[in-house]
Amino acid sequence: MKKVAILISGGGSNMVKLVQAMTGDHPARAVIVGSNDPAAGGLAKAAEMGVATFAVDHRAYKGDRAAFEAALLQPLLAAEPDILCLAGFMRILTPDFVQRFQGRMLNIHPSLLPKYPGLHTHQRAIEAGDTEAGATVHLVTPELDAGPMLGQARVPVLPGDDADTLAARVLVQEHLLYPQVLRRFASGDQTPLILNAA
Ligand code: GAR
Repeated sequence: MKKVAILISGGGSNMVKLVQAMTGDHPARAVIVGSNDPAAGGLAKAAEMGVATFAVDHRAYKGDRAAFEAALLQPLLAAEPDILCLAGFMRILTPDFVQRFQGRMLNIHPSLLPKYPGLHTHQRAIEAGDTEAGATVHLVTPELDAGPMLGQARVPVLPGDDADTLAARVLVQEHLLYPQVLRRFASGDQTPLILNAA
């Protein structure tokens, strides 16, 4: 059984789907959920599901990224995770941190990477006139949002969409994509999974 740690920054809807999926014959179990924001709504949801939680407030470290990451690592390493999932974790991690989990850290990003790494992905897709948008699960490497793709879900961009309506359509697919990719990854399968919700 693989042990999975999850990092979040907000509501944690992807985290909830991941935790809920890790039961029965699933090859992994959630062992801990952490956040850089003590007020992240997802922390209470994780606790309700019986998963241990912790928070390390990045604001207390005043830009000292190394000290923040050292504090983040303590509870994480104590939980001895095999896999680390970023699920709406909105802090950039240093190469040192990434290297500790090399080949076993996953992230979900709300665009069809390599398009639109970084922020405001849905607004950028709409402004570019894209007819398709989506989400990508990928392995985390030191370069932001650039690691090998493990899965992608595609949705149409519809006339009249704004960033919010598009984000909502993509999020529905994120909730399907991430648990399926994690299940495959935990079983040793890293071939990309493509979901088409066109
Ligand atoms: C998700 O849409 C996820 O793809 C995005 O944040 C949202 C978190 O929602 N992640 C990023 O933008 C990473 N750069 P959630 O907290 O409800 O899972």
